[in-house]
Amino acid sequence: MKNILLLFVATLTLSCGVSRAHENPAPELLPAHTVVIRGTRTIPPAWTLRSKPATAQHAMVVSAHPLATQAGVEILKQGGNAIDAAVAVAFALEVVLPDAGNIGGGGFIVHRSAAGEVLALDYREAAPAGATHDMYLDSAGNVTDKSLVGHLAAGVPGSVAGLYAAWKRLGSLPWPTLLAPAIRLANGHIVDSARSRDITNDRELLAQFPASRAQFLPNDSAPAPGTLWKQHDLARTLQLISDSGPDVFYRGQIADLIVAEMQRGGGLITKNDLRAYRAKWRTPVELTYRGYTIYSMPPPSSGGVTMGEILNILEGYDTIPALGTPAYEHLLAEAMRRAFIDRNHWLGDPDFVQMPIERLLSKSYAASLRSEIDPQHATPTPPSITTGGGVHTTHYSIVDAKGNAASVTTTLNGGFGSGVTVTGAGFLLNNEMDDFASAPGKPNMYGLVQGEANSIAPGKRMLSAMTPSIVLDRGGKLFMVVGTPGGPTIITTVAQVILNVLDQRMSLADAVAAPRIHHQALPDVIHYERDGLTEATVRALEAMGHRMEMRRGMSGIVAAIQHTAGGWIGVADPRYAGGALGY
Ligand code: DON
Repeated sequence: MKNILLLFVATLTLSCGVSRAHENPAPELLPAHTVVIRGTRTIPPAWTLRSKPATAQHAMVVSAHPLATQAGVEILKQGGNAIDAAVAVAFALEVVLPDAGNIGGGGFIVHRSAAGEVLALDYREAAPAGATHDMYLDSAGNVTDKSLVGHLAAGVPGSVAGLYAAWKRLGSLPWPTLLAPAIRLANGHIVDSARSRDITNDRELLAQFPASRAQFLPNDSAPAPGTLWKQHDLARTLQLISDSGPDVFYRGQIADLIVAEMQRGGGLITKNDLRAYRAKWRTPVELTYRGYTIYSMPPPSSGGVTMGEILNILEGYDTIPALGTPAYEHLLAEAMRRAFIDRNHWLGDPDFVQMPIERLLSKSYAASLRSEIDPQHATPTPPSITTGGGVHTTHYSIVDAKGNAASVTTTLNGGFGSGVTVTGAGFLLNNEMDDFASAPGKPNMYGLVQGEANSIAPGKRMLSAMTPSIVLDRGGKLFMVVGTPGGPTIITTVAQVILNVLDQRMSLADAVAAPRIHHQALPDVIHYERDGLTEATVRALEAMGHRMEMRRGMSGIVAAIQHTAGGWIGVADPRYAGGALGY
């Protein structure tokens, strides 16, 4: 099963394929730069993605499903703010994007108010009280697939608590107003081909669990594109949450259904676990890059810190080679490698482990890492570092008419999470427990080799790579809202979109569509997207000592917004069937 999931993680559907021009940044998008670009972009002619940006004067929503995007815009037009819209999008995604959305999962919000206050909210799942360090090892010490499939894979869900906490502090419209679009969609919506295909792709996983089979495979197959899909149990669950808030989920009827489901399948989550769950406000990671300011998610996400290390290393180069050249991809990969070595060794839940974050994010530390990069040769990742990263997760970006911004990434971990639907409640449970290092030093579903800092303990939150981010321009004004799913490639994808805009001077549409690479220290390999590098670049990188591996599919589903002189530009990644819409 691990292999099946790995295969799925590696495969993202190409949903769009028209020819693109790469050298077309609109002049008004160009920020001031000090960096000099050397060389000519060498993007292979076969690379054919093209984003269709949406433009709007007042407000913008970008998510991985057009109906969820519409739900967000509907709320904004009713006078709701970015958080109101974010809550509406979240519940809508639960209905229309069940592979990732998410009341059985968890996530992170980075929010910046129009007045400039930045907050980070952690509603990551937590290990149940009954979890133990070695719970996924068999008697021979090998990792089983129980962290991935079935009841034991689920962490205590955080989304309902998190969305409510965000709304309590920052929302403005009544709570039930925000759930109304989702309830409407659960009572019946037309399934599109992308989502029908997603369910078909994970048919084998879903068919193992009766409630999942009944909900997602009526008549033994996924709801066909163009048909009306009604999810009655889910509509009822959403109505209960609308009427009673998180209490019904963590203490009431829904809690009872979750616990009954756990007992049915040998899972660990108890009423006490649910009652004890809290969303937590954290201090956002604040980064600077060539005069821009970037806010991102702190631990228990590794996103902000790891991206910070990558950017800090690259900031020291006054001359940056052009995208697609061996010199650029080498520098990028070496920066990624070094950042991931630290990530995998040091980072974990801040309530359980001490982390040298200030040092990791200091410019002087970046300078010392930079000085060890050989411009001509790969630096092998030392194996001793191993003391010890399906699709889906989903990101959405929102800016409201007042200029408040929400950057939200949420996840069930693998596509359709653990595969287990809570009987009678109509939502899937996550398989987030696999984000822990089940066996420190051994790879998880994403091939991440992590250490004791991220080992399993009761109540602990598993380390994430989710990197919801907000970028301010040199004048301190809101400039970009960006994020993506993709396991560990989340961090490198968000970094590359930002670098493509700030350094490579690409329009947002091109920055999102441009082919991406990924290096995570171990396995010691540069992954690149299908046709994402020219043959000559691949060979040149191999000659430098890099192992090169082409992904079977694509990496990431970016949802990004950028401020321009004319208003907002929203871009949904052309790698998937999302939607950008504003007004
Ligand atoms: O939190 C994390 O880092 C992972 N659970 C994210 C998984 C993911 O992005 C899979 N989707 N593409």
